[in-house]
Amino acid sequence: QKHLLGIEPLHPTEITTILDLADGYADRPTDTRHRDVLAGMTQINMFFENSTRTQASFELAGKRLGADVMNMAMQASSIKKGETLIDTALTLNAMHPDLLVVRHPHSGAVDLLSQKVNGAVLNAGDGRHEHPTQALLDALTIRRAKGRLHRLSVAICGDIAHSRVARSNIMLLGKMENRVRLIGPPTLMPAGISEFGVEVFNDMEEGLKDVDVVMMLRLQKERMDGGFIPSEREYFHRYGLNAEKLKHAKADAIVMHPGPMNRGVEIDGTIADDINRSVIQTQVEMGVAVRMAAMDLLAQNLRAARKSSVIA
Ligand code: CP
Repeated sequence: QKHLLGIEPLHPTEITTILDLADGYADRPTDTRHRDVLAGMTQINMFFENSTRTQASFELAGKRLGADVMNMAMQASSIKKGETLIDTALTLNAMHPDLLVVRHPHSGAVDLLSQKVNGAVLNAGDGRHEHPTQALLDALTIRRAKGRLHRLSVAICGDIAHSRVARSNIMLLGKMENRVRLIGPPTLMPAGISEFGVEVFNDMEEGLKDVDVVMMLRLQKERMDGGFIPSEREYFHRYGLNAEKLKHAKADAIVMHPGPMNRGVEIDGTIADDINRSVIQTQVEMGVAVRMAAMDLLAQNLRAARKSSVIA
């Protein structure tokens, strides 16, 4: 692959290759993490939407691999003066970046941008479409906690309709032959979702029964477009994960959340902080390793393509 735009085009063997390489990066002792596989390469991070985890971990990953990393301050860029996304992309392309990491509020914007630039593009989240590195870091977290990434029962709970994390995870977990259950209110369930081979539940206790993994999602109000927003109190009562509801999952079920987390809305703080069940901080840790692996592999492809075009 030239770019990492989503999970959809990836073959299960490509997913395993990324996870195996990331596993190695995650296991390296902290003082030997620095490598030079991106030495001489330029990485530009363009975040048109807020981010803590994804932006910080892409920056750290690039620096650990020896790239020159530039974070574009999109709020202070000429986008504010009316420049289009494509003109911004063409301007940056003229500076010959090798890797472009892009987050954008519109589904499909990252794909469009990838058609206008010469470097490799990594989707850091586009609208409600895909967030591939999040699904990959979730997969690595599950694989390390459970010892495998197949024949597991995974419940994804909450605002599925507006979630690119849910979409990428549904595809990845399905490709790796896991059973996916979606739990949430009917108003937050996308139409036609059953076609993705998932089971849909509107009741937490029923949906969580005997699952291996519980993945909680936040209410993504920024993408609700003025539609129905449930009351947080009522939402927590019915869909917030607490100790009582978690009892319905397997006794060794792990609890995940991509962040940012709204304590007391989709998850009780004590569950989020319970080190025997919650792997939320491990997810953040795996984020750096997965992004190192993804950029390492794309850089290898980029170098190979450049070499073959010189030979031709
Ligand atoms: N999970 C995730 O994408 O978090 P950020 O919005 O903080 O990057």
